[in-house]
Amino acid sequence: MELFDYSSSVWLQSFCNTFCFMFFSFTILFCLFSLLIFVMRLKPWCQCDVCRSYLKMSWLKDFNNLCDWYTHLLAKSPTGTIHLHVLGNTITSNPENVEYILKTRFDNYPKGKPFSEILGDLLGRGIFNVDDDSWRFQRKMASLELRTVDVKMYAFDLVTAEIRSRLIPLLSSLAGHEHKILDLQDVFRRFSFDTVCRFSFGLDPGCLKLNLPLSKFATAFDLASKLSAERALGPSPIVWKIKRLLNIGSEKQLKEAIKLVNELAEKMIHQRRKMGFSNKNDLLSRFMASIDDEKYLRDIVVSFLLAGRDTVASGLTSFFWLLSQHPEVESAIRNESDKIMGPDDHQDLVSFQQLGEMHYLNAAVYESMRLFPPVQFDSKFAQEDDVLPDGTCIRKGTRVTYHPYAMGRMERIWGLDCLEFKPERWLRNGRFVPENPFRYPVFQAGRRVCLGKEMALVEMKTVALSVVRNFNIRVKYPHQSPRFAPGLTATVRGGLPVMVQEVC
Ligand code: HEM
Repeated sequence: MELFDYSSSVWLQSFCNTFCFMFFSFTILFCLFSLLIFVMRLKPWCQCDVCRSYLKMSWLKDFNNLCDWYTHLLAKSPTGTIHLHVLGNTITSNPENVEYILKTRFDNYPKGKPFSEILGDLLGRGIFNVDDDSWRFQRKMASLELRTVDVKMYAFDLVTAEIRSRLIPLLSSLAGHEHKILDLQDVFRRFSFDTVCRFSFGLDPGCLKLNLPLSKFATAFDLASKLSAERALGPSPIVWKIKRLLNIGSEKQLKEAIKLVNELAEKMIHQRRKMGFSNKNDLLSRFMASIDDEKYLRDIVVSFLLAGRDTVASGLTSFFWLLSQHPEVESAIRNESDKIMGPDDHQDLVSFQQLGEMHYLNAAVYESMRLFPPVQFDSKFAQEDDVLPDGTCIRKGTRVTYHPYAMGRMERIWGLDCLEFKPERWLRNGRFVPENPFRYPVFQAGRRVCLGKEMALVEMKTVALSVVRNFNIRVKYPHQSPRFAPGLTATVRGGLPVMVQEVC
């Protein structure tokens, strides 16, 4: 018996050793092969000026942000398109190319596997991260839900409730205390997390309560989106894939953060089921009526959190930085709102209908996102060889990026004053006139245009207006132009420190 046990365990051990050896050999061979394909597709040896400057990071001598350097290169390019060979990335600021990619040949430019792999662990099969039929199904269902008037009113009510009960009390509590510095970017991130969670799950994380509590969910969600985005910064996807396989470093942290996001999202879904969902307006309840699969529900809702949270906060942060440079725009917003709402304390918050009458405010918000779009660039991956309208040849598998940040600063699109903050450029006889979305793809454009655009604009305008009418916001370092941290959404390094005064 003993002998039998011993020999079988020796046999088992040698089988395990052989298996492990074969597994690791196979993994290493697979990695080397993928690396070879990757290297062949890119051109890491490229010595052109752009690639050299990128690799040596010498652009940092002249520019604060990578997006500013790209803007400079795109403005110099006769076609408005450039190539970063070492990254296999073609970047364009040409509106005709943008229309071609996002509309005319939409099917040839999906998000693609490289993108969906990067965000796949966090977003699963959520709308933000899929192509083809799965995308079509969610898009159809979500657009039906989001188009209704009652969902727009629901979003507006959530936003006004958060302003009245949290944002104004918080700013009032700091007003007049010159030494008290508040990070406005952090405040807007908390604001938009509360509202997007209430909109998506119908539950309130309470991040903007007066004591600015730490929310486990917000912290885990932040970490998970930051680490997922950082996967794209590495020299090759193979690096993060090996780290994930071995469960080490940032990949270990990411796994833990996603686990926490999943647990909390699942808890919210259960809670929502218990509370009943048939008479509720939030997105989760609406989807629950037609989807049973809990994992799928979680994926859909988490995509909405990612799409709707940092974008709004980023748009509001740069809006207030620009106002600090342009007091004349702030005065014009106050004058317009006085005309429509009556002066100062006549009415505390704007109504949905009044908001629609404020053409100058709308123009100011559009203008601020022209210069500082929350999503600075967006990439697709070509399915087949192709030629863009400006003559650029695209090989199958190439990453093709359109760049709203650069496009907002192109003389050939916006004229000689393209770098100036001028809401008037959007007005004709005092009325707001929209721009062609392929020249202003801040919300993307074409078949995958942002589903939360209306909601985001209502949220940004309502917040901006209530802050401008009630407070003077003084930015601590008004002459420091924003430096952005790498990530999916434009986030200002160091936040936006401000002092707050109540309007007399
Ligand atoms: C100022 C705020 C916002 C901006 C600038 C913005 C911008 C964008 C952009 C550029 C995309 C395309 C991203 C891509 O395909 O890679 C997008 C997609 C999307 N956005 Fe927004 N967004 C904003 C707010 C919101 C909000 C508040 C929501 C919802 C609560 C939302 C929901 C979505 C969804 C679901 C998609 C995916 C659409 C699809 O793939 O068919 N967004 N947004």
